[in-house]
Amino acid sequence: MISRETILECIKDPMERYYQKATSTIGNWKPLVDISEKLLAGKEVKDDESPPVFLPIVEMMRLIMEITKTSEWDWSNPAIQKIYKGIAESELYKMFADTTVDLVSSIIKKVTIGTLIEIGTGPGQVTAGVCKKMLQHSSAIPLIISDKSPSISDTGARLRKSFPQLTIKDFLWDFREDPPPELAKQLNAPVLLFERFCIPYGGYAAIDNIAPLADILIMVEDLNLTGKKEAYDSIYEKIGLQFFTLREAKPYLEKHFSFIYTCDRKTIDSINAPVTDFTLAIKE
Ligand SMILES: C[S@@+](CC[C@H](N)C(=O)[O-])C[C@H]1O[C@@H](n2cnc3c(N)ncnc32)[C@H](O)[C@@H]1O
Repeated sequence: MISRETILECIKDPMERYYQKATSTIGNWKPLVDISEKLLAGKEVKDDESPPVFLPIVEMMRLIMEITKTSEWDWSNPAIQKIYKGIAESELYKMFADTTVDLVSSIIKKVTIGTLIEIGTGPGQVTAGVCKKMLQHSSAIPLIISDKSPSISDTGARLRKSFPQLTIKDFLWDFREDPPPELAKQLNAPVLLFERFCIPYGGYAAIDNIAPLADILIMVEDLNLTGKKEAYDSIYEKIGLQFFTLREAKPYLEKHFSFIYTCDRKTIDSINAPVTDFTLAIKE
């Protein structure tokens, strides 16, 4: 049985560290809204028009506008993977990755977990961080990674090579469908499922396929709090990322979890963020 008090205690320090980083690096979201409006209108945005911290997002939005003009967005396209990998290593994305790793590792340090599972693993930056932490803490919880992109087998091979002490299995899984039965067979309760920036590609109903696997869910997604779709939301829609709001995601989460918690409330209030990025859900 998972106790909310224990998990809330685990996430306290990681969320405080996130607050310190986010308030000193992000500060104000408004320039991003203005820049995305220009990009959506097909206008040029020069690097020096953006606060440096937002440059990776600006670069990503430029890439989306450019590629989707002539072709479909395909995450397995090596050119997209290469650029995304660079973006994922930027200060802003690293802050979200580091905080995700911090949350997961703080929980597994204090709570016995049977299996760790990640969905939408992509190139595996967050995963590698979790693996490093497991080795530092001398814990070797079996880890399952998954993605709808066939490149998940390369990511799995790379991680197994880098972390031979760990048990890492990879699965091809499009979470708009039920998980493969072989994946479900590998799970030992309690299961901690973590993910970053992938569920909105599957839509709200994907939560019904993902949530049954998890006893604890760490959901790292921009869940809109204002109800207002901004230009950057419309740009990301071009690559299949649906506009997700906390209000609409909650009923889906509530079907499966008894406790749902917005972890980054203090940061949201401080920087007036239009989204929450860290949602925790628990089956108590
Ligand atoms: C923005 S990337 C995030 C990758 C990784 N989670 C990270 O934070 O660096 C989105 C990932 O979600 C995966 N994805 C998108 N739709 C999916 C679906 N329906 N089922 C499984 N994975 C999906 C993509 O293939 C891609 O690897």
